[in-house]
Order: sequence, then structure tokens, then C-alpha cells
Amino acid sequence: MIVLAGLILALHTSLPQTDIETRVNQLLGKMTLEEKLGQMSQSGLPEHADARMLSDLKKGMYGSLYGSASPRARAEVEAAARRSRLGIPLILGDDVIHGFATGLPIPLGQAASFDPDLVQAGARISARESSSVGLHWTFSPMMDIARDPRWGRIAEGYGEDPYLASAMGVATVEGYQGSSLSNPDSIAACGKHYVGYGAAEAGRDYNSTWIPEGLLRDVYLKPFQATAKAGIASFMSAFNAINGVPASGNAFTLRQVLRNEWGFKGMVVSDFESTHEMIAHGYAADGADAALKAITAGVNMEMISTDYRKYGAELVREGKLDPKYIDDAVRNILRTKFRLGLFDGRPQPIPANPPGPTPETLALSKKLAEESFVLLKNENGVLPLRSDIGKVALIGPLADKPNDQLGSWAHANGKTSITPLSALRSRLGESRVLYAPGVNFAWDENGPWEENITRFLTSKDESGFGDALKAAQQADVVVLVLGELADDSGEASSRSSIDLPGVQNELVAAIAKLGKPVIGVIMAGRPLTFHDSAAKMGAVLYTWHGGPMAGPAIVETLFGDSIPSGKLPVTFPRSVGQIPLYYDHLSTGRPASEDDHYTSKYLDIPVTPEYPFGYGLSYTTFTYSATRVSPIGDGFEISAEVTNTGSRDADEVVQLYTHQRVATVARPVRELKGFKRVHLKAGETATIKFDLKREDLAFWNQQMKFVTEPGEFEAWVAPDSVSGVAGRFTVK
Ligand code: NOJ
Repeated sequence: MIVLAGLILALHTSLPQTDIETRVNQLLGKMTLEEKLGQMSQSGLPEHADARMLSDLKKGMYGSLYGSASPRARAEVEAAARRSRLGIPLILGDDVIHGFATGLPIPLGQAASFDPDLVQAGARISARESSSVGLHWTFSPMMDIARDPRWGRIAEGYGEDPYLASAMGVATVEGYQGSSLSNPDSIAACGKHYVGYGAAEAGRDYNSTWIPEGLLRDVYLKPFQATAKAGIASFMSAFNAINGVPASGNAFTLRQVLRNEWGFKGMVVSDFESTHEMIAHGYAADGADAALKAITAGVNMEMISTDYRKYGAELVREGKLDPKYIDDAVRNILRTKFRLGLFDGRPQPIPANPPGPTPETLALSKKLAEESFVLLKNENGVLPLRSDIGKVALIGPLADKPNDQLGSWAHANGKTSITPLSALRSRLGESRVLYAPGVNFAWDENGPWEENITRFLTSKDESGFGDALKAAQQADVVVLVLGELADDSGEASSRSSIDLPGVQNELVAAIAKLGKPVIGVIMAGRPLTFHDSAAKMGAVLYTWHGGPMAGPAIVETLFGDSIPSGKLPVTFPRSVGQIPLYYDHLSTGRPASEDDHYTSKYLDIPVTPEYPFGYGLSYTTFTYSATRVSPIGDGFEISAEVTNTGSRDADEVVQLYTHQRVATVARPVRELKGFKRVHLKAGETATIKFDLKREDLAFWNQQMKFVTEPGEFEAWVAPDSVSGVAGRFTVK
């Protein structure tokens, strides 16, 4: 049996991929216009396909279905599609965003690890687990650069920086797609949301974006371009309008940039009805017009809405739509299906084979969680806790919320989660853990989702404080697990205030009055503002939504078995009024100055962030020498000595930033150009070197040419985006 399975696998993986273009064109030649439009249509995958859907499938009227149904449901619709005239297989997709059976930290947390290898290994697990139940395609990674933490979907991406988002996006794609897309345990990745979705005005989801072309190319397009280069199979066109033109009908981004400039050969799917929504945008007159504009712009497959199927043929017959656009779209779809091996006996799902989680996959999830935790504050070494500490009061609304620690878009079952409460009890024994949620909140299963979320965000209920204070009084140390529920961030979860929800600040204030050591653990899907509460706590550990193993990872970090090493992938503002606030901003003609009133600042708060991009403390300390730069070939070697000056062996994420002092377009005050996660023993010094090539310094000039301009530069090898001693160099 095992030998046979091995033989099938060997045969499968060795199938030739080289003649794909011939096969695509041969198949295309046999297709009717209706069958082509069918391939360009995607619908939701129900658990029980009705007679109508099965009959449509047999007529070849769908190219794809997506959703979280059972393997049985997938097998049923696949069989129906194979019985169609040409037997073109379906590509079956789903939102596998951060883990499948094995949950992983939210992508923003993964980015905080600055560890692409581990992120890749996490995505590999997701690919193995999801492919084993018949999935071929995931709508991930989300690589929208996000500089506004009011936008709830900041949780789903890799933060504010294009270099970091590119590294994380590429790692994720490599994890999903493996060494070859045709491997039975590979799934096709889908980079989203192309493009600019994260720049939604006022942080309100789906809102318009205004992005000048230089910024679009220098920042927002970068991660998409990096993954296109890495062989990503597909992209998803976004909901938003960019400079007045919806992303799902945008010929500039979809055709000019993606196809003509990057030579992308994969497929583009719309977001959920985003083509049809061009009517509401005021960009398409009706469904037919929406289909015409989306197809000609280069959206190959329509998700959920049905304008392609309804109007495509009529548009061609009326001579409005050149059929070459349809052929191009279908070629991209078929090519992707061939690359996935769907025509060549990709194994059927094995429902009896439980996909996980296993102890190994959970161990990886835990390591990723640990590496994602960012220590924001640690006064007088209050952390780590001593193992012989007496009693710990564990308080807070997130201390025992197995589903919420998984974050938004979670696939994993909450039953696989170990919460901080259960992890702490296993470590210390029940009697040494005094638990009280402090904030009384129960999800009303019968109530609407939005009402539940809003109730938590705006609650004034302090009825749980009494028990929390009682627990705290009896304890030697208080650990407060605060933050957001899973759905306080994510899609359609924009917030106008990014404070700790409800009465959590009041809870911190009440507990702090007791004078006990207080440690804050904050689980959230976005940067929150909690300046006053942080001041009342001795230490603050930011854990994002850390996944199923968040509990043990937090407890081991609190006790020092694991040392925090994550760094912020996004700037934390002091106040929502500073937004947008990001580290790679331009200077102004009047940089903020305390001595000069007429400078670029606020009357009421400093201009600097609460915590800058790249920031994160450790239980040890690191010192950095000045930055050295030596020319090498066409580029530079940039280095510094980093010393672990504390008493614990630990990881440090060493970062490289540069700045061009004068250029034909003003350059950001700093730009991330590299990072390395290094392990240094207590007392150890290491020379950390980065290779910087001339083209790494390129940007889009006024003529929209990608150029490296000669001039004077500064470089910092630094622990974050605001420290370091600069080295200087000149590009000739
Ligand atoms: C809408 C979301 O914007 C997108 O990210 C997701 O992949 C699709 N829905 C499908 O669920």
C-alpha cells in the first residue's frame, strides 16, 4: 500500500510541466464562449450542492468554488465538474489565512517575528493540512501595506513596511506552493488585495484610497512585485478605488503594471463581488458595464457576482468586448490549473486522514507565537517572573478565551487552544492561580455579530472589578491579559478609537492602586493606544492574537523560559490623532522642534510615536557599535558589532536602514533595507554584515523611472527605526 502510494506520488510529481502552454491552447481551442465564461466564474461552495449547482457544474459553468466545506462536499462538486463536456477540473479555494487545522499567530504577529524561515514553515503546514482535504488554493497572503491601525484588516497583513511585507509575503508563498505547485501537498497562493486596499481613507474598510504613482510603486506595489517574482500563482483585485478608479477595473495596475511590466502569467480573481460593486462606486453603469470593465482591465475570474456569466457572451456578440480578453483570462486560469496538476491526477482528498494538529505542528505554532511577542516595557526587571513566585492573580477578559486568541479569520478549532489560564494552572497548580476575568462579557450566540462586538467595545460594566480586586489582593503579582476579541479587528472591523476596549483602562487603574507588581499582556489584532495604562504597569508584553499555543507561549515567556525577541512591524501611535504615523515618512521644511513654535508638530502631544517601528525589548540587553560602510563591487558592505551585554542568551533582530540625503524626489528619513535574527550568548559580540546593492537604493523618480541616483547616504545598523549610530557613504 505504502509502496503504491509512493509510486503514485513519484509519477504525479514527475509529470511534465513544460508543455503546459500547448495543452492550454489545445483546450482553449475546443471551448465554447459559454464554457470560457464558466471558467471565469467562481461561486461559494455549499456543504450540499443543490441540483441546480450540480447541473451547472456538469455544463462547465464554473471554474472555481470556494469556502470551508467538508472534503465530501469538495469531492462531490469536483466529480460533477469532471463530468462536463471537456471535464475541466475545478480549482477549489478557501481563506486559509493563518493556519488551517493548526492555527498560527495572525499575520501581523508573524511579521513581528522578523523570521521568514519560520513563517515559511508555518505556511507549509497550512498547505499540507489544507491540501489533504482537497483544497488547491488559498486567498493568502494579504500584503496590503497598512499605516492606519483604525483599519481592522491591519491584523491580516505584515504591517507598514514594504521590505518586511515583501520578505514575509515571499516566505508565505514559498511555504504554500512548496518546491512545485504540482506537488500534491502544495496549494496555490493568492496575493491580495491588489492594490492599495490598506490605504483606506480614515481607516474605514472598503473606503477610497489616494495614492500618487510614486508612492504606489515605491511602497504599495512592492510586496506584490516581490511575490510575482517568486512565482505566486494568483492575485486578488481589491475592493477600493485608487485615485478614483476601482482596483477591480483598473487597467493601469492590472494590465500595465502586473502583465506588461512584471510579465505575470498567473490568474487574477476579483474580491467578493468587487467587480459588480463598481456600479456602487459610480464607475460602471450596470452589470454588463461592470463585466466589460473588469474583464478588459484584467480580472480573470469573478468571485460570487455573476456579471461575467450573464453578460459576457452578449458583450462579445455586440462587439463591445474583444474576445481576446476572454481568451487571455481563460488561458491564465487553465495555466494555473495545469500548473497545479489538476488535469494530471492530483490526488483526491482523503477525508479519513485527520490533517492535524500534531504535537510537531503545534510546537511550530508556539515557537512562532513566542518570536512574535514584543516586550514593550519592563521596568526594574519585573519580568521574567521567578519560578518560586507565590500566587499569581490572572485577570482580564482575554485570559481564558480560546477562540479569541486565534484571531480573526481563524480556521483552527478553539478546542485546540490552550489559554493563558490553563497554561498557568498547569505550571503553578490550581491553588497558586487566582483567576477573575474582571470584565464581564459573554458572546450572545443568538445576537447579531456586530452587536456583540460593539457591546464589548463600548461596555461600561464594572461589575467584574470586585472579584478581580479580591484576586489581586491575595496575589504576589498580577498578570492582566487585556486587549481585543478576535473580531474587534479583521474585515469590516474598523474602529475610530483604538484604545483598550470597554472598561479595561479602568480595570488597570483599579488594580494598579493596590500597589502590587502588575504585568500587562495585550492580545490584539492592531496597535492599540494605552499610554496611561502602560504607565501603571511594570511590564507590557504585546502578543497579538497568538494562535492556539498563545497560552503556553505567554506563560513560558513570563517565566523566562522563552525570551521575547519580536519587533514591531508597525508604528504604535500615542494617540489616534497622529494617524497616519509611520517610520519611513519624509522630512518637512520645518521638522518638529521644541524651540520653534512654527514647526510641524502638535500643541498637545509630541510628534514621536509611543513605540517606533522595529522596537522591542529583551530580557537581556544589546549594544550596537557605530555603523561601518565599505564599498564592495557595485555595492556596499554595511556592518556593526552587536554585543549581548546582559546575562541571558537571546535572539536579537538586527535591522539595516538607509537614507538618501538629497535626491530628485525627497527620500524617507529612513528605509528598512535588511534584517537578521541572530542568536547571541550572554557576553558574546558578533559582527553583523549586510550586503547592499546599488539597486537596493533605487526609487521611482518624477519621470516614473526606477533609478538609483548618485549622492550621499546614511546607513544605520540598529535595534529599531529610531536608534543607531549612522555610517555615511556615497553612491557615484
Ligand atoms: C472578502 C475578503 O476581502 C477577501 O480577503 C476574502 O478572501 C474573500 N472575501 C473571500 O472570502
